[in-house]
Amino acid sequence: MSTTASTSAVAGQPVIGIIGMGDMGRLYATKLSAGGYRVVVCDKPDLFDRLSAEFEGTGIEVLADGHAVSRLADFIVYSVEAAAIGAVVRQYGPSTKIGATVAGQTSVKAPEKEAFDKYLPADVDIVSVHSLHGPSVTTEGQPLIIIHHRGPQEKVTMVEEIFQSFKSRYVYLSYDEHDEVTANTQAVTHAAFLSMGMAWKNGSSYPWEETKWVSGIEVVKVNITLRIYAAKWHVYAGLAILNPAAQRQIQQYARSTTELMKLMLGGHRDELARRVWAAREAVFGWAETEDPVHDEDGGRRPILLSEDILNQFSLGEYDKKRDDQPNSHLSLLAMVDCWAALDIHPFKHLDVAGTPVFMLWIGVAEYLFRSRERLAAAIDAGLADRVFRADDLEFTIAARGWGECVSFGNFDLYERRFLDTANFFAPRFEGASKMGSKMIKTIQESQQRSN
Ligand SMILES: NC(=O)c1ccc[n+]([C@@H]2O[C@H](COP(=O)([O-])OP(=O)(O)OC[C@H]3O[C@@H](n4cnc5c(N)ncnc54)[C@H](O)[C@@H]3O)[C@@H](O)[C@H]2O)c1
Repeated sequence: MSTTASTSAVAGQPVIGIIGMGDMGRLYATKLSAGGYRVVVCDKPDLFDRLSAEFEGTGIEVLADGHAVSRLADFIVYSVEAAAIGAVVRQYGPSTKIGATVAGQTSVKAPEKEAFDKYLPADVDIVSVHSLHGPSVTTEGQPLIIIHHRGPQEKVTMVEEIFQSFKSRYVYLSYDEHDEVTANTQAVTHAAFLSMGMAWKNGSSYPWEETKWVSGIEVVKVNITLRIYAAKWHVYAGLAILNPAAQRQIQQYARSTTELMKLMLGGHRDELARRVWAAREAVFGWAETEDPVHDEDGGRRPILLSEDILNQFSLGEYDKKRDDQPNSHLSLLAMVDCWAALDIHPFKHLDVAGTPVFMLWIGVAEYLFRSRERLAAAIDAGLADRVFRADDLEFTIAARGWGECVSFGNFDLYERRFLDTANFFAPRFEGASKMGSKMIKTIQESQQRSN
């Protein structure tokens, strides 16, 4: 055990315990310790020596295992892989201190809820959390979901106080609401980008090397796709495979993609157009003959204000003189079709639990669907264009493949599909991640300025 207790910890404050010192566990331990709390942590017992050496002198106390953390801490956060939560809580849950409050950082809550209900002693309260962002993003202003599942209201107040220094935006949901909202804001959104990446890889194309992918909303698609493939596969796998609502949404996304592609290939203009315009009305509220209301007349200000902002973040050579290639934007048509089919209102989800990636994803969908000319051009391109058709075919196959992999609940297959594609893009991860972060920051700032 590293011996120095946090010098700044205040007597009478709850002791914080973190089980799982991966990326998110470290973020929480570091920030909460800096916020003045006594923080005790552990990872797997065989990592004890390494972790102890690493945190020596930091004030964060490394303990032998989850039993030791559970016996000591008043507020415990399990920060382990979603697929492992059941086994880890079964092991350490019974050691939880009487009257303690337990949370999980797990991105999908169905297995966490099951494990807590099953293995935590009855004299322990449950107020769970989930920070809706990755470890490299500032916690400030980001949604922090709080789930009051068991115990008195004062435990929620305690959790709110503990996380004060994060300056996050608290969002209060039940376990089930959490999984419904995050299925949309995270799981199905990731499925779309994972499919784009796999389509590029299977088509053996680096999108930044081809002029058709280097401007406007294509820049968002490329940067976000690379950002997702640069992260940990198990986070995406857990929230797709273990969330029942995500299963439903990802299957519908694959179905929407395939059905629209078939209409395009069959040249069924009327049916394709009817379906796309109906989805526009269902999701955005604009009839086929209607333009969106301008914000000065009480409408909503669009997320992406200008393509010029996006072009500065292109990973490739952007040629101003080049005419835009007509693109069916199958990935976006399918997303809006999927939302319409499942009666999902994405802007409500954005308000509740928006992540930067989800904001940009709605942003590009809205950009396409706002303009009747742009949407009509996408429908035309889907029926007639030959430039993007091969990409659309690869995209459809990829979306179906991800849907199948998720429905089989197969983590190994998910990992292989993910890493195969990630390896293809790996040489560009560093640049793309930096570019993606800058892009997100610029768009968020331009949003704030205009609100
Ligand atoms: N990375 C993200 O963007 C992100 C964001 C929000 C929530 N989450 C969720 O947070 C959780 C952790 O994610 P992460 O990114 O930190 O993953 P990670 O792989 O970096 O960390 C998981 C840690 O749990 C440890 N662990 C596993 N079994 C253990 C055991 N029996 N005892 C102690 N430690 C054990 C692992 O050794 C590992 O260090 C996941 O459930 C994930 O879904 C991740």
